Amino acid sequence: MKIYPKKITIIEVGPRDGLQNEQKIVSTQDKIKFIKLLANSGLKNIEVGSFVHPKWVPQLADSSEVIKGLNLPKEILCSALVPNMKGLERAKEVGIKRIAVFTAASETFTKKNINMTIQESLDTFKEIVKNALADEMSVRGYISTCFVCPYEGNIKKEKVLEVAKSLLEMGVDEISIGDTIGKASPEQVKDTISFILKSIPKEKIALHFHDTHGKALENVEMGLEHGITTYDSSAGGLGGCPYAPGASGNLATEDLIDFLNQRGIETEINLDNLIEASFFMQGVLGKKLPSNYLQRISGKIV
Ligand code: HMG
Ligand code: MG
Repeated sequence: MKIYPKKITIIEVGPRDGLQNEQKIVSTQDKIKFIKLLANSGLKNIEVGSFVHPKWVPQLADSSEVIKGLNLPKEILCSALVPNMKGLERAKEVGIKRIAVFTAASETFTKKNINMTIQESLDTFKEIVKNALADEMSVRGYISTCFVCPYEGNIKKEKVLEVAKSLLEMGVDEISIGDTIGKASPEQVKDTISFILKSIPKEKIALHFHDTHGKALENVEMGLEHGITTYDSSAGGLGGCPYAPGASGNLATEDLIDFLNQRGIETEINLDNLIEASFFMQGVLGKKLPSNYLQRISGKIV
């Protein structure tokens, strides 16, 4: 019999990773409503926006206004992406307490995504993290393309570990290991994760799967077997990265919860309330969202 962790933490990335790839601009008010519905489902960690250059990701140009309009209970930890010191200034202006820096294990992807080499990104983050920690903020670190890069193909696990160690050394408290284009096989996940866990405690690792090839839940299973208890997911399965050709939706939060419920793993999230948020965004975008659970339920409700 498999032994699973008893409780899982979900980092909801729908309002950021989910929306950043959508062409139709969602209004500030609809973003706020979406995030409030997500919070109402019991999600305690929500990535609500991104302080990147508005020209690079036009959908999230209004992150400051969204955050100012939220007024969520204190127990909900809102976070936002920050690529450089300019992004940190913008995050501080709206009083966000948790930020996420983001780099990759592939040089080509890093250049295309943030116009830096991996080393330049780490040098930039060192200053950001120091400054943010001094201001009593906390910092998560993303590593994209940890398994497969759309430009370079398979990625070496040694590179992932090297970047992860650098981020931890500078004071990042959690590393999100990303399968940016949803191409990792469970064997690859096992190989890379077991290698990383020899050097980094599992409490410091989160897994971030996109579901392009339908492998995200099998990859979660692999993470659970290795004792990893934090997973990123996106309501409705919204998502993708505009600078990663082939990146489709993130692992859907409702599919993840349904999967965990079947294994008796606690998340403290109300699935009925969660799908209200997904249905709301499905209506706003005017298209079916990819979550299997959502579409199954949708057939029953309508
Ligand atoms: P750059 O063009 O190299 O920037 O872009 P720069 O430093 O040369 O500055 C150029 C101009 O932009 C300057 O203005 C700056 O002030 C301004 P000017 O002086 O010319 O008037 N600027 C900014 N303005 C607002 N906010 C800022 C900012 N920074 C500079 N933060 C940059 C570099 C990093 C800004 C750009 O490449 C960028 O914004 N990239 C973001 C790309 C992105 O958001 N990708 C998606 C997120 S990553 C992801 O989805 C993966 C993840 O989900 C995990 C996974 O799935 O693997 C996390
Ligand atoms: Mg992503």
